[in-house]
Amino acid sequence: MRKRLVAGNWKMHKTPSEARMWFRDLTAHLPQTQAEPALLVPFTHLPYAAEVLEGHGVHWGAQDVSAHTEGAYTGEVSAKMLADLACQYTIVGHSERRSYHAESDALVAEKARRLLEQGITPILCVGEPLEVREAGSHVEYTLQQLEGSLQGVNPASPQHLVIAYEPVWAIGTGKTATPEDAEAMHQAIRGWLEGRYGADFAGQMRILYGGSVKPENATALFAQPNIDGGLVGGASLKLEDYIKLLT
Ligand code: G3P
Repeated sequence: MRKRLVAGNWKMHKTPSEARMWFRDLTAHLPQTQAEPALLVPFTHLPYAAEVLEGHGVHWGAQDVSAHTEGAYTGEVSAKMLADLACQYTIVGHSERRSYHAESDALVAEKARRLLEQGITPILCVGEPLEVREAGSHVEYTLQQLEGSLQGVNPASPQHLVIAYEPVWAIGTGKTATPEDAEAMHQAIRGWLEGRYGADFAGQMRILYGGSVKPENATALFAQPNIDGGLVGGASLKLEDYIKLLT
């Protein structure tokens, strides 16, 4: 019922020309897959994504967006600009934005609303840091983050909002949540979404897991009933690994 989404978050890696070649290689080697591939790349790479990936069943998007619609906001990129480059998805609330740029839940919610206004699906990230996990309050923490980050966020359909659970302690560390631990959190998130959007709606929404996902651990993670794919950092930069994650 829910199509597996394998979303690569390239973070600040590769130059635009390297990306263009990588996109071409991907289209040449794209496997037969039941999964939906998507690449969230730096803003500078998006025109090449639109040029090369169009028509190949691979989606693309950005890793952040401005909370403003237009105007004197030096350095910012609006949702309308992303829509013009045919972005289908864009990440909001990644823990690296939350911690290095002090992004609050309220700001994340505003950004998600800007994307929805332009028909772009937010991939909204939540997840607890290590000390919260060790204290055993990770579920409360994550659900509270979800509540704050989804204020006024009302997608028209379940396909218009994706949640990514990324425990901060698992990002880029090589430590992955066990499939059982990740599933327990995904179940809690879906339960919360049911309360917010209704059971039918929430049952069709995708919840991704992120944090050191790689070909060796993806099968067990993706086999969990409430894990609908991954938001993948490091492993999405290597064509061979990304292709394995799709199959
Ligand atoms: O958004 C993906 C991410 O933060 C996980 O990164 O490198 O641990 O897969 P990585």
